[in-house]
Amino acid sequence: MIGEDAAEAIGRSGERAVDVALRCANAGGELALARFGQRQQVDVKGRGNVVTATDIEVELQIKSILAEEFPDHKVLSEETSSTTDPTTGATWVIDPIDGTKNYSMGIPVWCTTVALCIEGEPVAGVTYDAIHDECFRAEAGSGAFLNGLPIESSRSPDVRSSILGIDLGYDDALGSRQIALMQEIFPAVQSIRILGSAALGMAYAACGRLDLFTHLNVYPWDIAAGILLVREAGGAVSDRTGAPVSITSRALAAGGRRVHDDFLARYAAAMGEAPTGRAAAP
Ligand code: IPD
Ligand code: CA
Ligand code: CA
Repeated sequence: MIGEDAAEAIGRSGERAVDVALRCANAGGELALARFGQRQQVDVKGRGNVVTATDIEVELQIKSILAEEFPDHKVLSEETSSTTDPTTGATWVIDPIDGTKNYSMGIPVWCTTVALCIEGEPVAGVTYDAIHDECFRAEAGSGAFLNGLPIESSRSPDVRSSILGIDLGYDDALGSRQIALMQEIFPAVQSIRILGSAALGMAYAACGRLDLFTHLNVYPWDIAAGILLVREAGGAVSDRTGAPVSITSRALAAGGRRVHDDFLARYAAAMGEAPTGRAAAP
């Protein structure tokens, strides 16, 4: 299996990896949606960082689909398999609910996201927003789609004419740097959004709803599908120095190619995150 054209990984039922990812994200999203708004157990992992009983339930449901389809593949998932090394072999990367704090507060901004990575490279990925029945899907080399229609990242020329998505994460110092970045940028920008779901931020950067999304403290399950979505939508993804990212990168800037480059040159540099001059990874 490893070493073959990864996007052609076929599950035991005969489904392609991207279709299995779609089934997983849909099933997980529908289950989360059925529980949304109900009282449920919430455990606190840190300030602003919670896990609900539904996160676990959704994650186990997705893992059971993957165990049937791809019993030889590894799983890296936020709540129950968070220590798997995703950089070798075939690894499914799962965030059962991205935006759990929103979810637990009844804020309808969250999603379920699933990606297959081969040797650390995302090759098939789906981010499903069950609230809006929006399915973002990408396969390496085949483009990116929203509910079956092709999507493109932003053509915005610069930060000044853009909507930026930013998120704070759960590290106080890094979150404070994001706030300082907003102060540096504002008001020379159309506006800035903090959605509270990094995976949706990446999906929105893929389809141009956000011209650019940037974060300093993500985990593989937040971004694996999103990196592929943005790349396949023709956008740029790099870290905040302009260097290529992998799914284990903690910092990223993703979106339309021109606004991405303007952001790096103008603001990442001002924040002491100087661009290396390297071209952003497609
Ligand atoms: C978090 C969300 C949040 C982002 C954090 C993530 P979770 O994921 O995506 O928007 O700022 O960095 O960890 O905890 O809701 O799965
Ligand atoms: Ca997450
Ligand atoms: Ca999560």
